[in-house]
Amino acid sequence: MFLESIDIKHFRNLTDIHLEFSPGFNVFYGANAQGKSNLLEAIYTLAFLKGFRGDRLPDLIEFDASGAQLSTLLNREGAKTRLSLALESHTRHAYIDGSPCTRARDYMGILRAILFIPMDVSIQQAAPQLRRTWLDKMVFNLKPAYLLDLEQYQKLVKQKSAALRCEHPDTALLDVYDAQIFPVASRLIEARYQYLQLLAPHITRVFSKIFDESFDCFPVYKSATRTENIVFGKDMPTPLQAVLEGYRNHQSGARHKELARQQIASGPHRDDWGFELNGRHARYYASQGQQRAMSLAIKIAEIECLKQEAGIEPVFLLDDVSSELDPVRHKRLFEYLNAISAQTFLTTTSRHHVPIENVAHIFRVENGRITSE
Ligand SMILES: Nc1ncnc2c1ncn2[C@@H]1O[C@H](COP(=O)(O)OP(=O)(O)O)[C@@H](O)[C@H]1O
Ligand SMILES: [Mg+2]
Repeated sequence: MFLESIDIKHFRNLTDIHLEFSPGFNVFYGANAQGKSNLLEAIYTLAFLKGFRGDRLPDLIEFDASGAQLSTLLNREGAKTRLSLALESHTRHAYIDGSPCTRARDYMGILRAILFIPMDVSIQQAAPQLRRTWLDKMVFNLKPAYLLDLEQYQKLVKQKSAALRCEHPDTALLDVYDAQIFPVASRLIEARYQYLQLLAPHITRVFSKIFDESFDCFPVYKSATRTENIVFGKDMPTPLQAVLEGYRNHQSGARHKELARQQIASGPHRDDWGFELNGRHARYYASQGQQRAMSLAIKIAEIECLKQEAGIEPVFLLDDVSSELDPVRHKRLFEYLNAISAQTFLTTTSRHHVPIENVAHIFRVENGRITSE
């Protein structure tokens, strides 16, 4: 899929923009604070109904404007769809081909976008919550129905947590929550497990091809109920059935502890994931450069995985990666990006940071104005 064009009104510092894109590589260059990331955020918002720098709607609207409007013409294998959004400070309205779309789940998943921002390079060191969100987003991109389970699970976790914090917790009620939580949690764990299994060969290949031939890189899942990590792509991973049984046993045996601590002991919201690099946990072992490369490798692997597993080619939003890689890896990354066919939107402070010759479309960004060159 690719975006043919975009129209932006009063979105951050982008007052009035109309752009036509190339289906291939689109580069946006300009000094700092001119609006490059804002443009990527506009595309991201059209995909996910929120920005990538905080969740607050009012922040997305231009100072002093009452609302922002975004619209894009999406081309999916020749079939065209217009997605439009009207953002107000307390509400948003989404439209598909001009018809209002009231449920987020009917809207999200039409435009598939994969984002990489400088903050992502430190995902290995980030709080587990952020890492889980990464993983959940990847699973969602392949399988939009995952969002329903995730929302339901989060709701149940909230309710059970509140029940645990009562002065006199109602154990019968806790039993009911446990019975409701288990099937939803199992579906989430299963979806994550299957996803990492699919992603593993792509990560291993992308990492060695672009970044480091001499290292083996495998994704791992860390369940709060198991001492050892589940490693994907190397030998047979621990069977899913065993993981789910472990979780069930843990859940039923943890009531005492949960009551004492007033919090839920295990479940997808306590699990984590990461990488093994040459047999060791990357978070503690990999160099900073390797960790950056790994973060980028995941995103590229995600694109390949979506294409292979679902026949979907997402758009790739790359915000200012040039500063994050050494020249050799940087050049290899660009050769690779140029060879894959996904539509790419890339921002950079200098067009010289883009070491490929036939960039399909170059735009200059200056003070909220974007001009095609
Ligand atoms: N809601 C808003 N209204 C108007 N300007 C905004 C808003 N939010 C951010 N900005 C401005 O956008 C600019 C930053 O844009 P950004 O796209 O992040 O820059 P860069 O080109 O460095 O990626 C800053 O000048 C900031 O003040
Ligand atoms: Mg920026």
